[in-house]
Amino acid sequence: MIKQEEKKLFIETLGCQMNDTDSQHIISELKEHKNYSVTNDMEEADLIIINTCSVREKPVSKLFSEIGQFNKKKKKSAKIGVCGCTASHLGSDIMKRAPYVDFVLGARNISKIKDIIDTKGAVEIDIDYDDSTYQFAASGMNLYKTSVNISIGCDKECTYCIVPATRGDEISIPPEMIVMQIEKDAKNGAKEVTLLGQNVNSYGRRFSDKRAKTNFTKLLQEVSKIEGIERIRFTSPHPLHMDDEFIEEFARNPKISKCIHMPLQSGSTKVLKAMKRGYTKEWFLNRAKKIRDLVPEVRITTDIIVAFPGETQEDFEDTLDVINQVKFDQIFNFKYSPRPNTQALELKDKEISDEIGSARLIEVIELHKLHQSELMNPNIGKIVSVLFETLKPNGEVSGFTDNYCQVFVKGSDELLGRIVDVKITSASRTAFKGEVVN
Ligand code: 5AD
Ligand code: SF4
Repeated sequence: MIKQEEKKLFIETLGCQMNDTDSQHIISELKEHKNYSVTNDMEEADLIIINTCSVREKPVSKLFSEIGQFNKKKKKSAKIGVCGCTASHLGSDIMKRAPYVDFVLGARNISKIKDIIDTKGAVEIDIDYDDSTYQFAASGMNLYKTSVNISIGCDKECTYCIVPATRGDEISIPPEMIVMQIEKDAKNGAKEVTLLGQNVNSYGRRFSDKRAKTNFTKLLQEVSKIEGIERIRFTSPHPLHMDDEFIEEFARNPKISKCIHMPLQSGSTKVLKAMKRGYTKEWFLNRAKKIRDLVPEVRITTDIIVAFPGETQEDFEDTLDVINQVKFDQIFNFKYSPRPNTQALELKDKEISDEIGSARLIEVIELHKLHQSELMNPNIGKIVSVLFETLKPNGEVSGFTDNYCQVFVKGSDELLGRIVDVKITSASRTAFKGEVVN
């Protein structure tokens, strides 16, 4: 067989970690089947891909100005493709607005990448497409940590969220495929794996074949048996599915990293109901307390949306109350952004002014800053185990603790890929400095 001429791929990834893995899959498929290698220089690329996010409005408007720039500066023969969630939701409208786009490939259709790049004008955005059993080409990268999708799509109907409309129904990837993928990555040096899905702890309810149901706790137990994997992380779990069995496994299993994302969204039971989150303020507090009681060193992170339509001052104070009680280690804050194809659009007459939204956002950020110092400072002097992964030009090496806080030490590349004891010497609001303990 004649080897194809080597070509260059420039890929930009926006949005969540699932988009990061989708981009990895695009890269490995194009490398294996079309002899592409990645470049960081858009102007020398033969193929330019932008893997998009549509969760909030801002990234969508940014997309068009960005691909306009790409079109001006690219090599004449270079193709442009738009992939991901905005591709799913805008489809061929993307080409109407930007006729120089060569193809549009929706999230959940990523396995078609090697064929679509040669089909000018193609639009593949089927949200019922099932590539849950597609075997993507191996990335071949030697990484200390890896990420593996465990499901595609989302069955929830959170009323603010566009994801079910862009990624379709939830289908779990068969456990044996997940385990095989992680085993391969572990052989290539991965010590840590992150299991990814829109809703990881509803894993195992529906597969594309007729196999028996399973659950996330059982998957965690299977992944724990993989030789070489020392840390297991996952995102995002849904607070509604944090049953006792799951929390007890989280606490008991030494391979599970003691950092958990608990997306609160709102602390008001009334707003949670309007968001169709399926839990109450009390349920959330009860789950967080159970986790903290069983795992005192746990770090809890969250997502919060302020100014959801109809959110009163009293509702907002419920959110502040939960923040005060749980004391999150990290908060991803968002101001509500109305999205197409979502039920919350029906609440248009209850929308909150931008001014109030911004003020509430600032209040959350300021409150959280107080908690961060309170949570970080008591760690000074403690010994923690750190998986080192990056050598910086200033001679510092950085890595993460088991409960996923970033740590910087002076050191060399000898530390990379190793799990080492470190004494914490100082703390900022978001990271530690420390010294390796011999
Ligand atoms: N407006 C603001 N934030 C949103 N998110 C999802 N949809 C919206 C929206 N319409 C946030 C949620 C979710 C995170 C990934 O993005 O907090 O957990
Ligand atoms: Fe969106 Fe809710 Fe699904 Fe998360 S669980 S992706 S917020 S619908």
